[in-house]
Amino acid sequence: MIQDRRAFLRTTGAALGVVSFLKEDWPARLAAAERDGGGGGGGGGMGGNESFWFQIQQAFDVDRSIINLNNGGCCPAPRLVMSAQERHLTFTNNAPVRTLWTIMDPQVEHVRARLAKAFGCATGEMAITRNASEALQIALNGIDLKPGDEILTTTQDYPRMITTIKQRAAREGVVLKQFKIPTPARSMPEIVSLFEKAITPKTRVILVSHSIFMTGQILPVKEVCALARSRGIWSIVDGAHAFAQFPCNGGEIGCDMYGVSLHKWCTAPIGTGFLYVRKDRIKDVWPLTAAEKPRSDDIRKFEEIGTHPDAGRLAIAEALTFWEGIGAERKADRLRYLRDYWAKRLMKLPNVRMHTSLDPAHSCAIGTIQLEGVDSGKLTEHFWEKHKIIVVPIKHDEFEGIRVSANVYTSLTELDMFCEAFEDVAKNGLPTPQPGIGK
Ligand SMILES: Cc1ncc(COP(=O)(O)O)c(C=O)c1O
Repeated sequence: MIQDRRAFLRTTGAALGVVSFLKEDWPARLAAAERDGGGGGGGGGMGGNESFWFQIQQAFDVDRSIINLNNGGCCPAPRLVMSAQERHLTFTNNAPVRTLWTIMDPQVEHVRARLAKAFGCATGEMAITRNASEALQIALNGIDLKPGDEILTTTQDYPRMITTIKQRAAREGVVLKQFKIPTPARSMPEIVSLFEKAITPKTRVILVSHSIFMTGQILPVKEVCALARSRGIWSIVDGAHAFAQFPCNGGEIGCDMYGVSLHKWCTAPIGTGFLYVRKDRIKDVWPLTAAEKPRSDDIRKFEEIGTHPDAGRLAIAEALTFWEGIGAERKADRLRYLRDYWAKRLMKLPNVRMHTSLDPAHSCAIGTIQLEGVDSGKLTEHFWEKHKIIVVPIKHDEFEGIRVSANVYTSLTELDMFCEAFEDVAKNGLPTPQPGIGK
């Protein structure tokens, strides 16, 4: 194992070279951090190695006068990604008609190839989009359906994707079918069988989240997609949260389409995402913005959005380099370590309900916790007003709580401060608002 770790440090040394925050002696410092030991779960046992993760934390210019525990919404990018984007943007402005269209556009092809390699698909199956919303709207709107045809999903899928289906329903008479899943889910086979039971002879499309946005619950997408395929149903995976949060391999999942936001866990520039479309399905999917050959099997037909900046797209390469340098398993291990760090402490309180299973097969960075008897919206406001801690309230028909998502730049001190703030409210309740003072 030690040998493996040393090999990691040698081989990823070059990759982590992007982390220019480190002084020139950074390989030695990483090696020293490694020697210090520590360890969480999988991923080489590095999840709890604070010396190692301290080095990674320094790659980010985040405002440490606040504590950002909503990394599920949108993540800050490391300094190297930011500076690449800025560099590319400045270069664009020299003469955009030349720099953008003749120099940078062709370089996007390299990023496409890198993304495809990272996701485990062919380059010709990878479209670069502005976010998961765009990717999944291409997917959901692009399939030919007749009135009465059904699109099946859960009641916990992302609202914008549900809205997209509802718009199709209003325009074309397709039918949205939703079913409930337990929170937290009890078992993966149960989820698959709930999908199976909800399929009808009219089901044409299944939309399934890889990681549910409200709780971080991981769903058995491979099995659900296999089920869909066996019934001749299209499978669309909402992977907005999954890619680069935990290892996921597009080739193994076996879906027809998969949409991602790269500005979430991949820490790429804001306004980047991707859509994977299985090669033999591309010709059957209409692009969202018209293309000259809409029925072609060229994945680039999904990118016909007119003039747009390439700076962010090119800087995806830096984000991938950073993530690959850390390692997909190692990052997931750290994210689970951080989530367990606060969750296990707060779960000892008598008046909390955890809506996320801590089973590593069921979740990773994200955890949603409820302080019973306290409104989650007010609790969120209190954390910000009093402690400058950012979390996000989740209010759903089936449950409520606050969603907490740390990232690799989060320190244990920050999590301690969050836990103390939470414990204070658990013990003393929310402070009574004073007239004229604050909220
Ligand atoms: C599950 C899920 N799908 C899709 C999206 C849309 O992502 P974006 O706003 O980056 O397009 C989100 C955003 O939070 C999400 O959580």
